[in-house]
Amino acid sequence: MSKPRQSLEGIIKTPRLVIRLATLNDAPFLHRLWQDGRVMANVGFPNGLGMTVEEIKSLLKKRQGLIFGGNLIATLNDGEAIGEAFMSKVDESGVAFTDVKLLPEFWGHGYGREIKVGLCQYMFDNIPDLMAIKADPHRKNLPSIKMQLSVGGIPIVRGGDYPIDVDPYFPDDDSYQLFMVFRDNFIGTLPHHSRP
Ligand SMILES: CC(C)(COP(=O)(O)OP(=O)(O)OC[C@H]1O[C@@H](n2cnc3c(N)ncnc32)[C@H](O)[C@@H]1OP(=O)(O)O)[C@@H](O)C(=O)NCCC(=O)NCCS
Repeated sequence: MSKPRQSLEGIIKTPRLVIRLATLNDAPFLHRLWQDGRVMANVGFPNGLGMTVEEIKSLLKKRQGLIFGGNLIATLNDGEAIGEAFMSKVDESGVAFTDVKLLPEFWGHGYGREIKVGLCQYMFDNIPDLMAIKADPHRKNLPSIKMQLSVGGIPIVRGGDYPIDVDPYFPDDDSYQLFMVFRDNFIGTLPHHSRP
């Protein structure tokens, strides 16, 4: 398996954005993002996450340099940070997950979808044993649900017929809907993305 390039320059490039590894200097930005109740409400923290800048720095130190399982920052091409992205490691069943969180002033411009496409493309390109990418947005989180559907995410129904055993991936709380983007169903229509 090819080893993804470790770079601060940007590990993924999309037409309008760069996704790069977070550095300790990003702690104040992540604090602002994670303290925003509008961003965090649908992941269970309507009053913000409650981590201090120092606690975020410690977290970033532990995860420094990790592309899979580390903190990633999404920026505009001029370097302005607009949000964060995450790609997990792949598990033993061939499943990984992604996450995207943007500052509210950048919602609704197609950036979320652009990042999701970039993340999925990068993962399917670089992890040969990756079979599916899961996400479990809150059922009321329409932008996130539409983002999953737009890249080929399939809403998973218990008892359905899928190429892998999906039972372990159902969220405990029925307020959340499981989606999976299987390798064959992925829709990635962006013209440019980086390859290692
Ligand atoms: C979820 C999130 C990343 C989406 O990013 P975004 O840039 O706002 O989304 P996009 O502009 O790419 O739009 C994605 C889809 O949602 C739709 N959408 C965007 N805002 C919407 C809104 N307020 N209501 C309904 N649909 C909306 C878009 O039309 C698009 O659907 P389409 O492809 O059918 O046209 C962003 O809203 C966010 O950061 N939310 C807070 C954190 C969060 O909930 N993260 C996801 C955790 S699962």
